Amino acid sequence: MESWRIMPITEEDIDQIIEIENDLFQKPWSRTSCLHELTCEGSYNFGIAFTDPDRPSQFIAYIFFRIIMDEMHLFRIGVAQKWQKKGFATYLFQQSIQIASEKGADTVYLEVRASNTPAISLYHKLGFRLIGKRPRYYPETNEDALVLMKQIDLTFSQSSAQIMPGQS
Ligand SMILES: CC(C)(COP(=O)(O)OP(=O)(O)OC[C@H]1O[C@@H](n2cnc3c(N)ncnc32)[C@H](O)[C@@H]1OP(=O)(O)O)[C@@H](O)C(=O)NCCC(=O)NCCS
Repeated sequence: MESWRIMPITEEDIDQIIEIENDLFQKPWSRTSCLHELTCEGSYNFGIAFTDPDRPSQFIAYIFFRIIMDEMHLFRIGVAQKWQKKGFATYLFQQSIQIASEKGADTVYLEVRASNTPAISLYHKLGFRLIGKRPRYYPETNEDALVLMKQIDLTFSQSSAQIMPGQS
């Protein structure tokens, strides 16, 4: 029977991740960037995939982040269009925050395009607050980046991590 699960991203999964990237982002990561990220020190990468014994895993969402000292830095999060608005990003985030916390991180930082309303809304819902702006950070559109930060609150992330996508 088909079911989904969260798992570390490996080199064999990169083609599927790139396919989702190309569909979601104005400036998608290249295969080289993705592969580089898999091997960087402090880098953690997870995907959500449907698994079926008779077929290869089908990835529908992914997250790339790094832990640097006591900080978690979000580099990328994406959910394939067909699977958006079902709680997968929230779930991936909360699982990742849990892992980062166990590794000693107490704060999460990220940058987001000022026009990316769905992502800003997601981060707001997860408890991030605006701490700054990087003017014209994205050269292809001259757009500003908003810098958001969240203090890791273990009680919050532990209880929320138990809510599975589709159940909230
Ligand atoms: C941003 C993104 C990761 C959200 O993924 P998702 O799985 O749909 O998010 P969730 O289902 O967990 O939604 C959680 C909250 O995010 C916000 N949100 C998600 N999609 C939204 C949309 N299309 N419009 C407005 N808010 C949205 C809502 O606040 C939502 O809470 P709600 O369901 O109670 O309204 C997804 O839209 C995506 O992949 N976008 C393209 C890639 C991207 O911009 N990544 C972030 C920058 S690195």
